[in-house]
Amino acid sequence: MQKSVRLKSFELVARDINDVDVELLHALSISVRWPHRPKDWDLLRRAGHGLVAVDGIGRVFGSAMWFPQGDDFATVGLVITTPRAQAQGGGRWLMDQVLEQCGNRNLALNATHAAYSLYVSLGFTSEAIVYMRQGEMPQTLPAMPALDGELNELPRDRLGEITALDTRALGTNRAELLALLAEDASIATLSRNGAVVGYSMCREFGRGFVIGPTVAGNDQDAVHLTAVHAKKLAGRFVRVDTRERNGVFAEFLQRSGLEVAETVTTMSKGRRFLNREDNGPWVYGLAGHALS
Ligand SMILES: CC(C)(COP(=O)(O)OP(=O)(O)OC[C@H]1O[C@@H](n2cnc3c(N)ncnc32)[C@H](O)[C@@H]1OP(=O)(O)O)[C@@H](O)C(=O)NCCC(=O)NCCS
Repeated sequence: MQKSVRLKSFELVARDINDVDVELLHALSISVRWPHRPKDWDLLRRAGHGLVAVDGIGRVFGSAMWFPQGDDFATVGLVITTPRAQAQGGGRWLMDQVLEQCGNRNLALNATHAAYSLYVSLGFTSEAIVYMRQGEMPQTLPAMPALDGELNELPRDRLGEITALDTRALGTNRAELLALLAEDASIATLSRNGAVVGYSMCREFGRGFVIGPTVAGNDQDAVHLTAVHAKKLAGRFVRVDTRERNGVFAEFLQRSGLEVAETVTTMSKGRRFLNREDNGPWVYGLAGHALS
């Protein structure tokens, strides 16, 4: 009896991502060691559109999603092929379909090292590095700069108070996405002279919690907005994705025990995505890897 066998290859077909059981998506993300829970996939499916690569007996071998934000922009994410199916053209095939579905929208994504060359070949250009920081929150937070303004909790029905600020920081209106995230998030605002100058959300994600999106006008404000949530999460696993490499905010995260676990590259196709204004609001903490 021979000791090896060549199995017949099989065909994958594209299906809408809403047509498969969430447990299959969960297994897919686990196969590439991503921390998403079924609940995280549920939220992402409500936030965007996507497709999966499925074999003849319904097994999921790949996924790709896009998240419209406003009329002319979308982020792309959850681009995964199972290790067994990688380097055989599946990732490119999924991305080609996402690009077709996105039409003329300007696009942005956060590329892992594994996916970077694929996105370059599809016309995406690099804009910034994202530092994915995570760790267990300490019992006591490190010293913080003086607070300039007033911190408050924002009730979900008053999201309108942060929409304009968020749109200025991101360059696109993502009010619908913020409303979805807010369903299960606590929201802190910072006000000065009667005006909201920053906000931060915190929600359960993956192994623990994610603090983001965080929008603020400077590092000091971003520290306080992040700390509002961090103070309540002693001993819990927390993740913050930020494009700040150095400075007061990055140092605060580092001293809080949030080490850089991985870096990804923010890339865009179409108009430039990141346009920081002098003294304007800025996204200090991302809503998520796929959501920017
Ligand atoms: C990134 C990922 C989706 C790519 O999927 P894939 O099915 O392997 O992609 P493809 O086979 O279509 O290859 C696409 C390109 O990637 C590159 N590539 C793929 N596998 C490679 C390998 N083993 N070595 C070097 N380059 C490789 C090639 O440039 C290839 O281009 P080509 O079509 O000109 O040959 C997959 O590796 C993956 O799921 N990784 C883990 C999750 C992840 O990082 N997702 C990206 C999120 S931004």
